[in-house]
Amino acid sequence: MPVSDPAAAPGAPAEGAASHAPAFRPGLEGVPATQSAICDIDGRQGHLTYRGYDAAILAAQSTFLETAYLLIWGELPTALQLRDFEHEVQMHRRVSFRIRDMMKSFPAQGHPMDALQASAASLGLFYSRRALDNPEYIYGAVVRLLAKIPTMVAAFQLIRKGQDPIQPRDDLPYAANFLYMLTEREPDPLAARIFDACLIIHAEHSLNASTFSARVTASTLTDPYAVVASAVGTLAGPLHGGANEDVLAMLEAIGSEDQVAPWLDRAIAERQKIMGFGHREYKVKDPRAVILQRLAEQLFDRFGHDPLYDLARKVEEVAASRLGPKGIYPNVDFYSGLVYRKLGIPRDLFTPIFAIARTAGWLAHWKEQLGANRIFRPSQIYTGAVPREWTPLEAR
Ligand code: CMC
Repeated sequence: MPVSDPAAAPGAPAEGAASHAPAFRPGLEGVPATQSAICDIDGRQGHLTYRGYDAAILAAQSTFLETAYLLIWGELPTALQLRDFEHEVQMHRRVSFRIRDMMKSFPAQGHPMDALQASAASLGLFYSRRALDNPEYIYGAVVRLLAKIPTMVAAFQLIRKGQDPIQPRDDLPYAANFLYMLTEREPDPLAARIFDACLIIHAEHSLNASTFSARVTASTLTDPYAVVASAVGTLAGPLHGGANEDVLAMLEAIGSEDQVAPWLDRAIAERQKIMGFGHREYKVKDPRAVILQRLAEQLFDRFGHDPLYDLARKVEEVAASRLGPKGIYPNVDFYSGLVYRKLGIPRDLFTPIFAIARTAGWLAHWKEQLGANRIFRPSQIYTGAVPREWTPLEAR
C-alpha cells in the first residue's frame, strides 16, 4: 500500500487505493451499522419478531410493559418480575412541578413532539448522574422514562388547552392511565386494550432512523434522557413517525372513493410520496399495518364506523396496482391514525404516542449499546474544495 501524499486534497484516496474505497450507500441502505439481538424483520415475508417472539402474538397476548421488559432485558419476565416492574413504573409516573411549570411556558401552538423532546431532555437536569455500569441505575432510568414520557405527553395536551395537567391514576394500568390523563375520563376497557396493543406493535423496529440516533447518542456515554430526547427529535420527521398525521390529511384531501384513482395518479406523476406507503425493509404489506387494520375494525364494530376507513381501503386497493410492482405497500402509519382518531386522540398526538411506545425500543438499544460500546464515528467521502488560498475580506 503506497504511503498517502500529505499534500493531496483532504479525503482524496491515496494513489492506487481507489479500488479499496468502500462504496457510498446513501441513507446507509443495506449497511449493517451494529449487531443487535433485539428485533428481526423479514421484509419479504412481512414478519416481525421481538427477541424471537412474533410481534402479532405479543400484540394479542402480552401487555406493553411486559413487552418492554422483554425488549430491554431479553427474556419474558416472571410473574414476580412483572409485578415489580409494573409497580415501579406506576410509582414513577408523576413529573416534578418544575417540569410541569416549564411546559406551561411552551407556546400552546407548538408541536407536541417538540414539547416532548424538550421535556424528555429536561429529565436529565433532575436525574443526571451517569452510572452507566450500575444495573440499578439502568433499571431506574428505564422505569423513569417509561413512566414519565406518557405523563408529559398528556400534560402538554391539557396545558395547551389552558388546563392544569391531571395526576396519573395509580389504580389504572399503563395504557388506560395514559388515556385517562389525556381525556380526564376512564377509558372503555376495549379501547384501552386496543391502545395497549398499538403500543406493543410500535415498541421496536430494529435500526430505524430514531433508534440509530438513540444508539449514536448512547455510544458517547451520555445520559439516557439525552438518548431518548435525540430519538424523539428524529422520530418527529414526516418520513419517519410523522407520517401518521399526514395520512389522515391525505385521505381528507382525496375526499371520496371516486377521487382515489385520479388523485393517486396525479400524485405519482408529480413524484409525490404517498404517505403511509413504502418502507426501507418491507417489500410487502407491513405486518403492523395488518394488525392495526384488525384493531381498527374491532374499534369500529364497537364504537361505530369511520367512512375514512373505506377510503383508506380504496387507496390501498388502487395503490396496489400502481406501487405494488415496486414493492411499495401500506406501512405501520397507514392505519394507525384511523385507530387513534376513533379513540378520540388529537392528530398531532399520533407521533408522540409513537414515541411513548418506541421509548421501549430505544431503551433496549441504549442498554445493548452500553453492553458492547464503541463510539459511532463513520467516515465520509469528501466532495468539497481542494485546499486554497485565503482571500482577505477587502479583496472578495
Ligand atoms: N409513495 C410513492 N413512491 C414511493 C413511496 C411512496 N410512499 N415510497 C417510496 N417510493 C418510491 C420512490 O419514489 C423511489 O422511486 P424511484 O426509484 O422511481 O425514484 C423508490 O420508491 C424508493 O424510494 P426511497 O424514498 O428511496 O425509499 P427509502 O427506502 O429511502 O424510503 C420511506 C422509505 C419510508 C422513507 C419512503 O417509502 C417514504 O417516504 N414513504 C412515505 C412516508 C412514510 O409513510 N413514512 C413512514 C415510514 S414507516 C414508519 C417509520 O419507520 O417511521
